[in-house]
Amino acid sequence: MSDFSLLGISGSLRKESFNRKLIREAGRLSGAAFSEADLNVPLYDGDVEEADGIPASVQTLADQIAAADAVVISTPEYNQALSGVLKNALDWVSRTDGNPWKDKPVAIISAAAGRTGGARAT
Ligand SMILES: Cc1cc2nc3c(=O)[nH]c(=O)nc-3n(C[C@H](O)[C@H](O)[C@H](O)COP(=O)(O)O)c2cc1C
Repeated sequence: MSDFSLLGISGSLRKESFNRKLIREAGRLSGAAFSEADLNVPLYDGDVEEADGIPASVQTLADQIAAADAVVISTPEYNQALSGVLKNALDWVSRTDGNPWKDKPVAIISAAAGRTGGARAT
């Protein structure tokens, strides 16, 4: 097993998501120690943040990003933008202490049904 760790983030929660399959394939082809993030986190709410701080699921995600040697994100295109699921998770992570993305190599890919193949999602 490689020492290099790769975290995969799928912008789709669907079990059979093509974007989930893409990050898994990226993990397989890279030969890295691959793990998959869970974006099933609460919707960002400033009141929740003020009352309770960062949700545990968001902190876990931020810690996974910080710990990974590299991250691969694959998101569907929803109405000519990235998925709301991914945007919500990125917004939450931006509220955590430190900067888990600092100096992090990130690859961004997309599987979408449209003719432009996700070009407007990333
Ligand atoms: C709400 C919604 C909006 C969508 N908008 C777009 C779009 O703007 N462009 C596109 O190429 N596909 C669009 N699609 C199709 C998705 O790209 C396609 O369903 C994709 O396979 C979803 O990713 P997944 O397989 O990882 O779940 C949309 C799908 C949904 C549900």
